[in-house]
Amino acid sequence: MPFDTYKSLGRSGLKVSPLCLGTMTFGEDWGWGSSETAAREIFNHYVNAGGNFIDTADGYVNGKSEEQVGKFIQENKNRDQVVLATKFTFSGQPGNPNAGGNGMKNMHRALSGSLKRLQTDYIDLYWMHAWDRTTPVEEVLYSMNDLIRSGKVRYFGLSDVPSWYAAKMQTLAQAHGLHGPIALQLEYSLVERTIEYEFTEMASECGLGICPWSPLGGGMLSGKYNKEDLGKDGRLSKIKDSGNESSDKLFSERNWQIVDALKKVAATEKKTAAQVALHWVATQPGITSTIIGATKIAQLQDNLGALDFELSAESKETLAKVSVPPHIHPYVFFGAQMQSMINGGTQIVRWSQQLH
Ligand SMILES: NC(=O)c1ccc[n+]([C@@H]2O[C@H](COP(=O)([O-])OP(=O)(O)OC[C@H]3O[C@@H](n4cnc5c(N)ncnc54)[C@H](OP(=O)(O)O)[C@@H]3O)[C@@H](O)[C@H]2O)c1
Repeated sequence: MPFDTYKSLGRSGLKVSPLCLGTMTFGEDWGWGSSETAAREIFNHYVNAGGNFIDTADGYVNGKSEEQVGKFIQENKNRDQVVLATKFTFSGQPGNPNAGGNGMKNMHRALSGSLKRLQTDYIDLYWMHAWDRTTPVEEVLYSMNDLIRSGKVRYFGLSDVPSWYAAKMQTLAQAHGLHGPIALQLEYSLVERTIEYEFTEMASECGLGICPWSPLGGGMLSGKYNKEDLGKDGRLSKIKDSGNESSDKLFSERNWQIVDALKKVAATEKKTAAQVALHWVATQPGITSTIIGATKIAQLQDNLGALDFELSAESKETLAKVSVPPHIHPYVFFGAQMQSMINGGTQIVRWSQQLH
């Protein structure tokens, strides 16, 4: 699919590019982002190439990301052209429980800060950044509807939530004639395929577009790292140095095998590893727009070349096999073997499959 073909986001009238520009790297305070000059170059290149979908969050790089995005939109005078998405949930004031989470008080506090930093009076897509385990689904749904009615928000989505949470919200919205969420933002890549257990089908059933984040596993799937040496700079070396749980998970033996297979496929296809890894994510069922990240213009240029080719059946098979998620309960019941037992050995083409 060419980069200037737009897609509707979920069951909505909002049209977005198949690659969304993630801006978590806009700002240097976290130790692995870009200077303002590099961020501007990345932003300008993306919009000049036809991209219209920008992802940020109130907390990214302590607000620097939103500030820079707001500035670049002003410089380009393209507020009408871009689909501007930001997020709330993470705490903005240590020690104050109501300056974080998904309650109405924090939502209004966070939104007013985002609108100021982004130099705009409305957000096209407002994401709840993560489930806070506290605020009732109804409170978030009604608050989002109030924000839509007030004109400060056009659409909303859910990031990093359990599947049941999104399904419950969409069901309530439909039952009560309210605006429901239109999209999900979830981690998805060759090294993190767990959304396939539950989210892909739920999203299709509920009319939600999926926008995957960290499609390169933070850079691991660019193929520039190897097991022995993660180098000294870049985000992954910092994750490795942290030695925390996510570091153990990311740098598992299984993931290095995926990287090896990916590099071989990329060599065969005459593409970069990053292009193949992004292509894989962007072409999976249910994926509307893949959120790409870059710290340098050359990375963005590379990544924008992820859509204009097809992978051979053999390459697809290699990638699918090496990265297959573990068979866990209860999802084993939904696989081919159990379904055959359920359907008496016959093949069933389900309704959602007949639409393609
Ligand atoms: N909702 C959420 O909870 C959530 C969480 C995380 C991210 N996000 C969103 O998703 C966006 C993308 O996430 P991500 O940054 O983790 O994505 P990613 O694609 O997994 O990693 C991007 C990083 O990989 C490296 N890289 C990218 N392209 C490359 C290339 N062609 N060659 C070599 N290295 C390359 C760069 O890091 P180095 O230069 O440092 O190596 C870049 O910053 C974020 O900006 C944010 O908008 C959302």
